[in-house]
Amino acid sequence: MAGRGIFITIEGPEGAGKTTQARLLHEHLRDRFPVVYTREPGGTAIGERIRAMLLDASNTAMAPLTEMLLFAASRAQFVAEVVEPALQDGRVLLSERYVDASIAYQGFGRGLDVELVRRVNEGATRGVMPDLTILLDIDPAVGLRRARQTTGKEGRPGHGDRLEQESLSFHARVRAGFLAIAHEEPDRIRVVDGSRAQGVVHDEVVRLVEGFLGARGWRASDSS
Ligand code: TMP
Repeated sequence: MAGRGIFITIEGPEGAGKTTQARLLHEHLRDRFPVVYTREPGGTAIGERIRAMLLDASNTAMAPLTEMLLFAASRAQFVAEVVEPALQDGRVLLSERYVDASIAYQGFGRGLDVELVRRVNEGATRGVMPDLTILLDIDPAVGLRRARQTTGKEGRPGHGDRLEQESLSFHARVRAGFLAIAHEEPDRIRVVDGSRAQGVVHDEVVRLVEGFLGARGWRASDSS
């Protein structure tokens, strides 16, 4: 693990409340700890261009392997520009999405060899993995309805981006993938039921994160 910071990610299927919960958590932590809040591609100029290509709903011809490698390429840039500097600087890095999303979406969802996805991502990240991952779990039927009601990240209300437009069975495989990797790594990945009211989910996320930071010896005064 690079440096002496702490790396926390928030993951989950579409519509699980990831962005809302990450923002609420950031607001809760930012006066107490030296937090860097980001999401892949982390605002890197190169990553944003790759993301636009990945989410463009007109890119219907994109092969699964191309998709996986583009996510990994964006991630390599994110690690070099954002993750490693933040961890070396002793920050709490809070990110929406990371390697687990590729395992779930490209591995389980698209059906690529999960070991291949892992190996490519290990190379792309130089082995830097989160210390703690909050997995917001939701039934994909409920999550997709939620996700499609909100304005799409690419500004297309009611349609969703290229990945959101995938079938319900694709999203069911993604969810099963997330739950499978959470089962494999119960210490790192904590599953939180994202179908409940926002405030209830937030309280549980805060309890988990503060418990984790406390166990690692982080006190609120560390931000001074
Ligand atoms: P978002 O939900 O974080 O905005 O991510 C955009 C879409 O990209 C979402 O449908 C999940 C998908 N995705 C992957 O398929 N693989 C990945 O590695 C990442 C980071 C996201």
